[in-house]
Amino acid sequence: MYIVDDIKTIAKEAGVIMMTAKAPKIMEKEGHANFCTETDEKIQAFLIDRLQKVLPEAAFLGEEDGQDVFTEKMSEGYCFVLDPIDGTSNFIYSYRPSVVSIALLKAGKPYMAVIYNPFDDMMFSATAGKGAYMNEEKIMSANTPLSDSLAVFGTAPYYSELQERTFEIAKNLLPLCVDLRRSGTAAWDMCCVALGRCNLYFELKIQLWDYAAAALIAKEAGCKITDIEGNELSFRGPTSVLCMGQGVKETPKCFL
Ligand code: IPD
Ligand code: CA
Repeated sequence: MYIVDDIKTIAKEAGVIMMTAKAPKIMEKEGHANFCTETDEKIQAFLIDRLQKVLPEAAFLGEEDGQDVFTEKMSEGYCFVLDPIDGTSNFIYSYRPSVVSIALLKAGKPYMAVIYNPFDDMMFSATAGKGAYMNEEKIMSANTPLSDSLAVFGTAPYYSELQERTFEIAKNLLPLCVDLRRSGTAAWDMCCVALGRCNLYFELKIQLWDYAAAALIAKEAGCKITDIEGNELSFRGPTSVLCMGQGVKETPKCFL
């Protein structure tokens, strides 16, 4: 059995914790409407406990519990990057989906990724250079042009200073595609581009745990994934993200 199968098993169990949570306590974090629930913390503790046994030498970076600071040591060797619930607001308001996101960095670059959506029982996985999968089937992003595709964006909700620019880009993107969507989970948005459900995702600021796993899945599904200036992602901290499926050959003019 490969490590990725162990990680998938653990992600699925984390999904059960998410689905069976009953009225968890909600805590506020820094930024506009930025929440954490008892369930986020519970899942993160569960993931660390179980993943430690799979790869004892790995370091851990996670969204919750003060484990969110990237250190130099994390760019050497192995490091798990965890988002126990991507889409915490969705989870609080029962607005689906929310996902469990697990990336494994090797020497600071994504090496393995698992994202699980327990609402639809959809398990995404990828290993660098070996393709992306959803429930064991190889996936590729869509080969259709943007004009014939949906596009999705994130509102960078915790950073009010980015609102105007976000909606300016969204306004200029709308006439270039079929229509726009906003799901409430960045990891899921990129999985949808990888799956070919939509063909572009952008957001002006997301954190490492939001994009580390999804970026590998999208890349392995043939997507181009950069920051919105077209630079490679750093995999060290927050960044803007532009993820385009195979059919989007050029950066749309609203980003230039
Ligand atoms: C958030 C979601 C949301 C995105 C935010 C993220 P969280 O993560 O991915 O879609 O717009 O930028 O921070 O807080 O639900 O884990
Ligand atoms: Ca997140």
